[in-house]
Amino acid sequence: MPKNTITLTNNATGETYEYNILQATRGPSVVDIRSFFADTGMFTYDPGFTSTAACESSITFIDGKKGELRYRGIAIEDLAKNHSYLEVCFLLLNKRLPAKDELRDFDLEIRHRAYLHNGLQKLFDAFPDNAHPMATLSASVTALASFYKEHLDIENEDEYLEMAHRIISKIPTLAAFAYRHSLGIPYIQPDVDLSFTKNFLTMMRAYPGGKMHLCASGHEHIKDVEVRALDTIFTLHADHEQNASTTVVRGVASTGAHPYVAISSGISALWGRAHGGANESVIAQLEHIGSVENVEAFIKKAKDPNDDFRLMGFGHRVYKNFDPRAKILKSLQDELREELNLDSELMAIARKVEDIALSDEYFISRNLYPNIDFYSGVILTALKIPKSMFTPIFVIGRTVGWITQWIEFKKDKTSKIARPRQLYAGE
Ligand code: ACO
Repeated sequence: MPKNTITLTNNATGETYEYNILQATRGPSVVDIRSFFADTGMFTYDPGFTSTAACESSITFIDGKKGELRYRGIAIEDLAKNHSYLEVCFLLLNKRLPAKDELRDFDLEIRHRAYLHNGLQKLFDAFPDNAHPMATLSASVTALASFYKEHLDIENEDEYLEMAHRIISKIPTLAAFAYRHSLGIPYIQPDVDLSFTKNFLTMMRAYPGGKMHLCASGHEHIKDVEVRALDTIFTLHADHEQNASTTVVRGVASTGAHPYVAISSGISALWGRAHGGANESVIAQLEHIGSVENVEAFIKKAKDPNDDFRLMGFGHRVYKNFDPRAKILKSLQDELREELNLDSELMAIARKVEDIALSDEYFISRNLYPNIDFYSGVILTALKIPKSMFTPIFVIGRTVGWITQWIEFKKDKTSKIARPRQLYAGE
């Protein structure tokens, strides 16, 4: 019977070492090299973790070649089409979709926890005018840890779920406050009568007093179609297995720090434009391109090996066929074109960039497809959400993923403090 092991030979000495192969339930198996250093006196070298599994997980599965994404075994296409973001949150935390009454209770709890402690609200006054909402958001989530020191017992499900529900519920309020602070306009308190997503849009857009604006045609209500589009965006961002920010969250978790501090670190990691900050950069880049006539010149720049310029919203470390989330958003964008008034100059530029990149040899040969950020940037613009709030919206969606990964890490008896090695090249 074939052995489920791999044998490595040191060609300098002829010594051989045998390692077990651990079978995955889906996707690639892994070679268990935990004793490699003890056996050989050498480290393995893998900057950027391109071939290294750092944990065992049963939350999210990605097959980058097939363009497949599943949360708890359920395809993202099914979740985006047939379930709300709150159902997806329940699924990630509880490993199953909620029954009707469970969803009602969960929804009510999330609505009731959305307010901020009065002391925490004062924190916003300390930030400078025009502070980027991501900076304010990260700092205020760290501050949240100073208000909630309980419910951290990982052996007690009621406790850690309360801690998880609280952060999921308060993140939209913190993000909306961060935004309104950046404009110097009064905060809108959460409204317990509104759903998770509508409440967030209201806290962003409402006139002081929680009223909607008056416009020439009457009150400017939040349309159902807008709520549905944003809810889908939250679902598509809810988790993405061991990406850069989640790896940071797990790394901070490994030191034993407070979970909200781990999430605050994840927020900081997400801000970079190679990661979640790309959605803001996509629109900034499309605006910079300025007109359809200029697109070819920018594509040329992106292809130039001597130019650092990259086309924002293209390429992905894991998806080498297409990003399934991008596919869902592209069809949502087409569906919403009329209702959300998407036919602007910016859309025309986006379409031309997309058309050229999808047919150009440079992008095809490197598997550089439009990613989720390309389409989410365009849809969020149509929802009248300013660029600076695109990454905070990613944060709102991803918070459930980070906290679920934090819980999984804490429950894993084999988890250790994150402590990579190095190839020393100094004096
Ligand atoms: N535009 C032009 N060329 C690109 C782009 C791009 N957006 N992305 C990668 N390339 C090229 C690289 O120059 C490189 O070319 P070479 O082989 O001739 O040297 C090749 O494609 C491979 O690029 P890497 O950087 O090695 O790919 P990696 O998997 O490490 O990076 C990343 C993935 C960071 C997403 C990259 O594609 C990128 O910077 N994209 C733009 C930013 C972006 O959209 N980020 C959002 C990612 S999705 C998310 O985080 C939610």
